[in-house]
Amino acid sequence: MSSPASAPTLDTADRYTDTRRRIDALLDGPTDWVSAMATVACELHHSFAHYDWTGFYRAVSDEELLVGPYQGPHGCLHIDVGRGVCGAAAQARETQLWADVSEAPDHIACQSSTQSEIVVPVLTPSDDLLAVLDVDSDTRGAFDATDQKHLEALCQDLGERFDATGMR
Ligand code: SME
Repeated sequence: MSSPASAPTLDTADRYTDTRRRIDALLDGPTDWVSAMATVACELHHSFAHYDWTGFYRAVSDEELLVGPYQGPHGCLHIDVGRGVCGAAAQARETQLWADVSEAPDHIACQSSTQSEIVVPVLTPSDDLLAVLDVDSDTRGAFDATDQKHLEALCQDLGERFDATGMR
């Protein structure tokens, strides 16, 4: 399996395709939700220079998110659904993309270095929220529609795959 660093000339879309191929290969076999989240966070984080915090907040109830596997500096351990960018994604069940987190009305600054953020919900086919995937960047405007498209496709597939695990 090639390492992310072996393809320095890929553009962002191609890098997502390459990263996704690696994630799919790694998850091809017996695994569970925690192992999958850890693997996804690791592969994404080490594939993209604009990712400075990459990880999951697990929906442990309808009201509460708890931090899951992640890469980067420490994250907040607990977020109420409806609070912050992660809580907004969990509540709305829709991607939140902020080019400048200082404009987000309720941004929770786990790290003062964060400038932009994208948060994508992981929903099962029956619309249960498993988690949100949160990616933060220390660069303003780091994420765009390309990031959104590939991360949403990944989260949709994770939600379909781990529908029956009962990991909540
Ligand atoms: N900024 C997020 C909190 C999570 S951390 O940044 C890792 C938010 O506003 O929900």
